[in-house]
Amino acid sequence: MSTETIAIACDHGALALKDHIVSYLKGRGFDILDLGVSGPDSVDYPDYGYKLAQSLKDGQASRGVLMCGSGIGISIAANRFPEVRAALVHDVTGARLSREHNDANVIVFGGRMIGSDLCEECVDTFLNTEFEGGRHERRVGKLSNPPL
Ligand code: RB5
Repeated sequence: MSTETIAIACDHGALALKDHIVSYLKGRGFDILDLGVSGPDSVDYPDYGYKLAQSLKDGQASRGVLMCGSGIGISIAANRFPEVRAALVHDVTGARLSREHNDANVIVFGGRMIGSDLCEECVDTFLNTEFEGGRHERRVGKLSNPPL
């Protein structure tokens, strides 16, 4: 049986939370592709959002977890890749809906906005909730074809 690989990345605004979730997911049997950061030095969040998006595009991981201070900047970065549907989440309901309605393949948190226990619950919900399909299929399909 193959183990699912989850990619994870953050900027300096969420290092402690990222390391916490890496340990948490390893403990739950997932393979983790940790794309950094690995230290407290200030970095640019787009670089890490793009790294994670590229890893999904290349098939190195099937789903991802991203974090920056607010979660906002790194969401914007990752969502510039058409392969990514990154959802910034603050509670368990948002985590559930990001899967049921949006088929999100990346969950995003603000390291300065959410505690580690709630973050664990959101990650569990994200990883264990199926896409509902149906009417949402058409809408999610449109996300891959913006009228640019
Ligand atoms: C870094 O200080 C901060 O701007 C970044 O982590 C994030 O909140 C940006 O959206």
